Amino acid sequence: MTIVVTGGAGFIGSNFVLDWLGALAEPVVVVDKLTYAGNLGNIAEFADDPRLRFEHCDICDGAAMARVFAAHAPRAVVHFAAETHVDRSIDDAGAFLRTNVEGTFRLLDAALGYWRGLSPVAASEFRFLHVSTDEVYGTLGPDGAPFTETHPHRPNSPYSATKAAADHLVRAWFQTYGLPVLTTNCSNNYGPRQFPEKLIPLMILNALAGKALPLYGDGCNVRDWIYVADHCAGVRRVLETGDPGEVYNLGGGQEKTNIAVVRAVCARLDEVRPRPDGKTYADQLVFVKDRPGHDRRYAIDVSKAERTLDWKPAHTFEAGIATTVDWYLANGAWVASVKTGAYRNWIARQYAGIEP
Ligand code: NAD
Ligand code: DAU
Repeated sequence: MTIVVTGGAGFIGSNFVLDWLGALAEPVVVVDKLTYAGNLGNIAEFADDPRLRFEHCDICDGAAMARVFAAHAPRAVVHFAAETHVDRSIDDAGAFLRTNVEGTFRLLDAALGYWRGLSPVAASEFRFLHVSTDEVYGTLGPDGAPFTETHPHRPNSPYSATKAAADHLVRAWFQTYGLPVLTTNCSNNYGPRQFPEKLIPLMILNALAGKALPLYGDGCNVRDWIYVADHCAGVRRVLETGDPGEVYNLGGGQEKTNIAVVRAVCARLDEVRPRPDGKTYADQLVFVKDRPGHDRRYAIDVSKAERTLDWKPAHTFEAGIATTVDWYLANGAWVASVKTGAYRNWIARQYAGIEP
């Protein structure tokens, strides 16, 4: 038996692969294009382990996907591969349309062709698990009830619109063709190996570099934060026990304003790596122009997953932030390896004119 993990060299995918190979005997085939966000160093720990195989492929390449299914005969696909950064989708949505919509279609199509050739038992046990986001549900007011799985899709950014499109394709492949799919919609992840364009790692690295900590708008937008290992555990539970055709919300149950998140990062840094001048890193906070179409609040109702999967997040926000900050402090070589010229160009363009 084996599983295919698309996007397994990215942030959540690599955490999923490391957790999987650390706990289970079953091999994993990582399918990854290695975009700016994919890094084989993320899974280097298992580079010499025969249970880890790597296919350097674009999910938009239908023939390559068909070959991967034929060559590895997986019992399941866990589909993480995507373009994931909202600000980049605002800057240029093309890659998001290609990978998140066309790529998901090509992968579904290849999976369907493979699944149709399986024995009845293998076909009934096969799973296609699509990893999606709470952003497909849109935005909430301060008193809005957390998103349930039946909340309508109301995406507001180019990124979330492409993820919503992918959710609909996955649903259609179940309704129309009977492919045994599962969908998870998760809230904001944080933890080791997150690419430093996202809020938490960007703030850690900017703080250490003495740069500004740029908060969009009034800094009071709210996200629900989940430690990445808890998300990965939820995905494993859905894969093991979820019902085909069903959608499962996953989240940390820890709603925070962005300013509270950045203050928590600063407090941990003040504790473990104090500034040489004795001041707090929070002095580096600045308010900058808001993100266009910036969703005000996400909150997610995970009662279905807790009830039906016997899963719940294990990490508090405080413990997860401490582990995350400490990981970035201890992994300078990883940080240096992902700060390529392309990364530096993005940061220079996105944050032009913001001084510490
Ligand atoms: P990431 O950007 O860190 O990694 C994405 C990975 O996909 C990279 O390894 C990249 O090389 C690969 N990839 C991109 N385009 C590809 C293509 N065309 N073919 C093959 N591989 C390709 O992303 P992440 O934050 O780890 O997110 C993983 C998944 O989880 C995404 O589907 C995302 O929508 C979803 N998600 C993320 C969060 C979050 O907070 N980060 C929350 C909920 C859901
Ligand atoms: O909710 C799940 C989603 O969470 C995932 O589907 C996405 O892939 C992931 O990128 C994340 O999207 P967000 O837009 O919420 O994450 P980001 O880290 O970009 O921003 C978090 C919040 O912080 C958001 O309200 C915008 C704000 N922000 C972000 C950056 C990069 C700032 O205030 N300043 C910044 O410099």
